[in-house]
Formats: sequence, structure tokens, C-alpha cells
Amino acid sequence: MYKIAVIPGDGTGPEVVNEGLKVLAAAGKKFGFKYETKNFDFSGQRYLKTGKLVDDCDIVELKKYNAIFLGAVGDPDVKPGIIETGVLLKLRFALDQYINLRPVKLYNSAYCPLKDKKPEDIDFVVVRENSEGLYKGMGEFKDKGTKEEVAIQISYNTRKGVERCIRYAFECARKRNKKKKLTLCGKTNVLTYAWDLWQRTFNEVAAEYPDITTDYAHVDATTMWFVKNPEWFDVIVTDNLFGDIITDLGAMIQGGMGIAAGGNINPQGVSMFEPIGGSAPKYTGKNVINPLAAICAVAMMLDNLGEIEAAKAIEKTVIGLVNKDIKSLAAGKMGYSTTEVGDLVVKNL
Ligand code: IPM
Ligand code: MN
Repeated sequence: MYKIAVIPGDGTGPEVVNEGLKVLAAAGKKFGFKYETKNFDFSGQRYLKTGKLVDDCDIVELKKYNAIFLGAVGDPDVKPGIIETGVLLKLRFALDQYINLRPVKLYNSAYCPLKDKKPEDIDFVVVRENSEGLYKGMGEFKDKGTKEEVAIQISYNTRKGVERCIRYAFECARKRNKKKKLTLCGKTNVLTYAWDLWQRTFNEVAAEYPDITTDYAHVDATTMWFVKNPEWFDVIVTDNLFGDIITDLGAMIQGGMGIAAGGNINPQGVSMFEPIGGSAPKYTGKNVINPLAAICAVAMMLDNLGEIEAAKAIEKTVIGLVNKDIKSLAAGKMGYSTTEVGDLVVKNL
């Protein structure tokens, strides 16, 4: 019996989570696994009413779960940064979900904004470090508000943090068993402290993986290759901020935010799965948002729980639908409502 914590969150989060849960229920029936869910309201609206975000008691409670399924965070009524740091980053850090795993996979050429790219050309995974770097929140103001003001934001990188992320990425390349290639994406030519540590650690760990080809690309060049030659990539490992940026571009070349899912992974603890697109507040309550990213997040969650067949079946169903019934992945243009897309996945599963 899996215990799954559900955080619907803000904006369209609750709508896509509902569809994800429909598919989870259908998969449970078909593949014979049992689970229970509990809802956690960590939304912006709750914050406005109660002042509460995620506190340490919530973290103790969440540690009792096998996985977390998250909709989206971000409420336009709340000042930017509060929910993001008080909910999403708090969960990632406190649960030590040190990997942000973001597959970039094109399911149908028609959804790719790049000319002549086919599904076999866009199939890679970004392993984003998820607990350190510039996201650590270290820094300070000096002489704030004056003409002499200085704002300092520190990228914090530990040998342990970098090494565990790089090891995970090597294991991922081995497990995928595709090109067996791992690309380190950094900025060694300018950020000479952080990326020196990353590069040294990468080279040392690489010696233990003679079966994996290694490669290095600066982050700016990486964005260029994503557009020009995405077929070069298999697994990419990078830090928190670079990973954040390149995976938005990754989502676009795989068909957009409607389809991109990710996992915040603690290999020894509780992991959290989410559509990476955000809360899309302008579509809230309209039943037009694409729930496929949330449904793919459910597939990633099941894979992580060990329900490999169920995970594969959901992905296969989604691939089938985006090649036949569903005409666009954009909100309002799918040819179906949010709930109808969820129903279609259930029916075809
Ligand atoms: C993401 C998001 C978050 C991030 C925001 C909402 C804090 O953009 O998951 O990529 O920057 O990590
Ligand atoms: Mn992001």
C-alpha cells in the first residue's frame, strides 16, 4: 500500500492533479497496486488566509509518505518568491531531494518548433542538481537603497553535493543504456571556483564509469545545441540554476509546458513529482489546461515506486494519444477539455 501525499497547489495545479489522480486510479486497477492519498493544502490562498507555508511539522509528516505528487506553485495574489521559497524550495531542501530529473522527449514531430526534428532526435534527460548552487539563498545587501548598493548572491557548491549528483547522472546514463553518454553542462571559462569543483569531480567519477562516454559543454553553447543538434544529447548533468534554465528550453523542444514532467528525487527518501510548467493562473478554472504533463509526472512517480509496467503503459498511452486524437498540446487548443484528456488517457490505458 503506497502512501501518496498530494499537493494540488495554486492556479491550474488542482485541475491537472485531478486528471493525474484519475490515471493513477486506473493504473492501480489495471496493474494491481494499492495506494492511499492525502491532500496537503500548501497553496497561496491558504497562505493569504493563515500566513502558513510549509513548516517543520509538515516535513515530519511528509517523511511518512512513499511519494509526493505536486500540481503547481505560484499565485499572482502573493508577492513573487514567497510561495516558491516557502513551499517548493522548502520541500526540495528539507526532504533533501537533491536531484531534479527532467526528461526531454519528443512524442510527435508535429509539436516540435524545430524544423525536421523527429522523436528519435529529441530524447535526453537533464539531471539538475536540486539542493545547492545559487538556489541556496546565500548572499547579502550592502548599503541597500543607496547609490553605493551592492547585492551579493552566492553559488554554494559542496564536494559531497556535487559528487552525489554526478554519480546519479552516471548511473542514469548506464541505466538508460542509449548513447551511454554524459555531458557536463557548466561555465568553466568564467565561474572558475564552482565549475572547477564540478569539472574535477566529474573527471574523477568518470574514471569509475569506463562504459560511459563523457563530454563537456558550456551552458550558453548547450542552449545552442538544444536548438541545432538536440540529437547529440543523452544525459546532461548541471547545477541548479543552469538546470532550471535549460529545462524550460528543453520543454519547448519537446512540445511545450503541457507535456514536460519532472521529479525531485531523494534516492534514499521521499521524492516529489510535478508537471514543470507552473500554475498558469490565467487558465484557472477554465478546464482548458493540458493535464498530460501531470499525467506524465504520475508515470515518473510510478516508475520511482517500482511500478515499472504501469509507468510504461501510461507513457505509451500518452504517446498514442498525442499521435492520434490530441491535435495540440497548448491550453485551449487540444480539441478536448482538461477533464476529457484525463478521460481519454484512462480509456486508452
Ligand atoms: C522550476 C521552477 C522553480 C525553480 C521556481 C518556481 C522556484 O521554475 O521548478 O523549474 O526555479 O526551480
Ligand atoms: Mn523553472
